[in-house]
Amino acid sequence: MKTEYIKVDFETEAGTQGIRLAAECIKNGGLVVFPTETVYGLGADGTSADAAKRIYEAKGRPSDNPLIIHIAQPEDASLYAETDAIYKTLADAFMPGPLTVVMKAKESVPLATRGGLSTVAVRCPAHPVANLLIRLSGVCIAAPSANLSGKPSPTDARQVAEDMMGRVDMILDDGSADFGLESTIVKIEEDGSLTLLRPGRITPEELKAATGVPLAISDAVTGKLKEGAAAPSPGMKYRHYAPSAPLTLLEGDAEKCIGFIKNEGSAAIGIIAYDEDVPRFRAAFPEARIYSFGKREDELTQAHELFKLLRLMDKDPLTQIYAPLPRKSGIGLALYNRMIRAASHSIVRL
Ligand code: TXA
Ligand code: MG
Repeated sequence: MKTEYIKVDFETEAGTQGIRLAAECIKNGGLVVFPTETVYGLGADGTSADAAKRIYEAKGRPSDNPLIIHIAQPEDASLYAETDAIYKTLADAFMPGPLTVVMKAKESVPLATRGGLSTVAVRCPAHPVANLLIRLSGVCIAAPSANLSGKPSPTDARQVAEDMMGRVDMILDDGSADFGLESTIVKIEEDGSLTLLRPGRITPEELKAATGVPLAISDAVTGKLKEGAAAPSPGMKYRHYAPSAPLTLLEGDAEKCIGFIKNEGSAAIGIIAYDEDVPRFRAAFPEARIYSFGKREDELTQAHELFKLLRLMDKDPLTQIYAPLPRKSGIGLALYNRMIRAASHSIVRL
């Protein structure tokens, strides 16, 4: 398949023309990669079962893993899902923005799009390109992250091109994604409580403060899904984000980490380090690749860098990678959730 790669630009007629072409492509059943404020999405008509099949094929994704549908304005959720007062509260507080809400689905969303579930995940992205694309398409856009299944979500159009050239009709390039980790996913349960299925930019603390509703954090967010247990969100079952060299997360200060890594004596090591610790790691391991992660307290920068680093490290010939274990609150929880998966739950507390 020939992939058209278009740089989008809101300032020029030619730049927005690309978005118009992409909307036509979606209307005609095509696949378009587009930017959002979290990560790039691989979009197609969310009301078409055939379009959903094409997405699963292009990603190499198991078809029981449901897709998020993207809408242009929060009110449109009621076309596709049974919305209620809690949805309205969440929408007023966080939409458009990096929040996905799981609710009971309406028949307008084909079963293929929702992976056979009775619920559907709905998100109203804040990115102007995504918003215009959805508006011009005239339908909701079903879109998983635009990576090949198992790889980190792409946060930059160049990463998209690596994975998706030849597999989709169009790629809209708008540079680097703002946040860098996927949206927060929250489910509205039948009793009106909330369950956090995936942490992201919108934190559990913010969700609780805005709704005043009890919020459970799904076990799989911070731990391993038990063998044979039903996944509250199908995506939790699958291997995700793992770099080719094994990654170990270390909890402890730089001195303790240095002692531990020396003791392990791996051949070609890569170390993801907080900016403050980079000079010490460089001095201790002159042969190692040291990747700076942003300042210790700057979780927004860390979120922005993580997937980029995971992809970058796969290009370096490493035999072992070490990274710090993030905290489990605020945006730290989103980092923690992605990093324990990338590390296949290998954590050492020093
Ligand atoms: O930031 C994002 O959410 C990005 C951008 C493109 O919007 N999209 C994204 O989609 O991350 P994806 O498909 O890579 O991740 C969606 C996750 C999957 O783990 C899937 O299992 C879960 O959402 N999901 C979708 N529908 C669900 C549902 N009805 N119930 C529970 N989990 C659901
Ligand atoms: Mg994904």
